[in-house]
Amino acid sequence: MEAQSSSNKSLAENGEVHSRSDANMLRVVKAGQNIVKDEIAKHFDIKSLPSSIKSIRIVDVGCFYGSTTVNAMHNVMDAIKSKYQSEGLENQVPEFEVFFNDLESNNFNALFKFLPPNRDYFAAALPASFFNPILPKQSFHVVHSSNSLNWLSEIPKELTDSSSPAWNKGKIHYTNAHMEVVEAYSAQYAKDLQRFLGARAHDVAVGGLMALLVPSVPEIHLSSETLSCSDFVIFGDCMTDMAKEGIIKEEQVDSFNLGFYFSCPKELKEIIERNGEFSIESMAKLDGLTSNTVPIEKRALILRGGLEGIFKRHFESDEVVDEIFDRYSKKVLSSTLHLRPETHKMAVVFILLKRKPLID
Ligand SMILES: C[S@@+](CC[C@H](N)C(=O)[O-])C[C@H]1O[C@@H](n2cnc3c(N)ncnc32)[C@H](O)[C@@H]1O
Repeated sequence: MEAQSSSNKSLAENGEVHSRSDANMLRVVKAGQNIVKDEIAKHFDIKSLPSSIKSIRIVDVGCFYGSTTVNAMHNVMDAIKSKYQSEGLENQVPEFEVFFNDLESNNFNALFKFLPPNRDYFAAALPASFFNPILPKQSFHVVHSSNSLNWLSEIPKELTDSSSPAWNKGKIHYTNAHMEVVEAYSAQYAKDLQRFLGARAHDVAVGGLMALLVPSVPEIHLSSETLSCSDFVIFGDCMTDMAKEGIIKEEQVDSFNLGFYFSCPKELKEIIERNGEFSIESMAKLDGLTSNTVPIEKRALILRGGLEGIFKRHFESDEVVDEIFDRYSKKVLSSTLHLRPETHKMAVVFILLKRKPLID
């Protein structure tokens, strides 16, 4: 098994996402709950399980530590139980083993507090990068993941190389950046997703399902009108202003890039097909996720939950981080996010994959 790279660790670990952003993530998972349940119930194949099977193993990869992951796992179990019921096999449901995967730095103890004391399943943490196999071959029957596959394992090196055409000078993300920057991000994402699928091809049983909720955009090259991405433009502008005023150095802005990528459905589909280990059973864009549901005055607070740790690690100063969020709160009021909220749609793609039979 490949060792976890330190760059991979540092990117996600320093996100320090905590409960203030949980409400936002919960919205996505709630919006996806019905489709996840219906599609798992439809495609879960009881006949493909060995007759001697003692337990069904399910996992939430990139689980974080709120109640969201526990609810998501309950939803998956309900789907499987309803499948057994619909086939008149309700008395033959095997026991469940439920795994929660995130990086070692995740607060698994906080997560375990959300587990109901009278649960009828076995629960365990799997601390490891999801870019590597996380259990022995063919262990899982259903994998779930929400809001996690847009986290890159590392920042493409060329973004901070002043001799590269992909040098991302004066910006902190690929939104509104030139094409070489977008391509560098997109290539890193494709590499990461291939690695994720390769790892799951190892640990998902043949016929096993993978239900993914992936934050997305309609087209490959982002416009700043896409929900979370225009926030990144606003943060970048705040940092550039601070550099001009001498509060931070220009090089600190040039050397900073956020490790999030939002694929479009076409791109996602192409990478999965190129990987070839999973068949696409179902794919849908979830509607109804607009930024209108997040009051503008709460926006900075929600984003702080996800970004504070990343900013702190780079700028190494609480004062600078406070100043960035203060400036963001003011700037966002004159942005299209605030002035034309109807234009900001949050796209989330649901995709259900099935592990193909092994080829000798
Ligand atoms: C935005 S949170 C989503 C949490 C939860 N799935 C939800 O929908 O509310 C993303 C999570 O992915 C985790 N993550 C990022 N990269 C990871 C990796 N390589 N391996 C495991 N977890 C990772 C982060 O630590 C974080 O907890």
